[in-house]
Amino acid sequence: MGFYERRILPHVINCACASKPIMRQREKVVPLARGEVLEIGIGTGLNLPYYDPARVTRLIGLDPSEKSWELAGKRAAALPFTVEFVGLPGEAIPLADESVDTVVVTFALCTIPDPVAALHGMARVLRPGGELLFAEHGLAPDAGVQRWQNRVNGFWAAVAGGCNLNRDIPGLLAAGGFEVSELQTQYLPGTPRIAGYNFWGRAHRAASA
Ligand SMILES: C[S@@+](CC[C@H](N)C(=O)[O-])C[C@H]1O[C@@H](n2cnc3c(N)ncnc32)[C@H](O)[C@@H]1O
Repeated sequence: MGFYERRILPHVINCACASKPIMRQREKVVPLARGEVLEIGIGTGLNLPYYDPARVTRLIGLDPSEKSWELAGKRAAALPFTVEFVGLPGEAIPLADESVDTVVVTFALCTIPDPVAALHGMARVLRPGGELLFAEHGLAPDAGVQRWQNRVNGFWAAVAGGCNLNRDIPGLLAAGGFEVSELQTQYLPGTPRIAGYNFWGRAHRAASA
């Protein structure tokens, strides 16, 4: 990982992912988290203010970028429940089977190199009755937008820390062992369409997983 990825990119992502339309997406899913929570790809902790302290007892945040987590400092210190950071990738969740009530993943399935492996790990650590809460951007339904997403994806990933524009989020969730119980989609206002098609909702471990 070069200087740009280690030192500059966390600041760029911290700003880009704090736009009003994206913060509204966080507000739609994060307050639903309950009990012991694992957040995958927690980044700079932009979701932290949206956790409901009356519902959450403990939060474990996992991300390979320790530099990003440094930027979460004040947001994390303000919370009344325990927040622990683990500097590991989502493909290597170091928790026991069936050990958390909620897994949260926002704007990270685009970037995780092996999202299906990471999702299998998320399904593994969820207790029976537990839920995955997600808010992600990905492959748009319109052929014209998809064409541009596919065309610029390589360049985009190179400058945006490995973020892919064209991942099929419902397909990944299914391949990763989840059944979606609630799914909403829309192009976010004020966001370029190639990066603005959003999926959010809730999922549980599929019976077959
Ligand atoms: C666009 S940022 C989003 C951060 C945060 N989830 C949010 O909603 O603001 C993508 C995040 O994915 C993280 N990431 C990259 N590779 C990862 C991996 N293998 N497992 C988990 N997270 C990863 C990056 O470090 C970065 O924090």
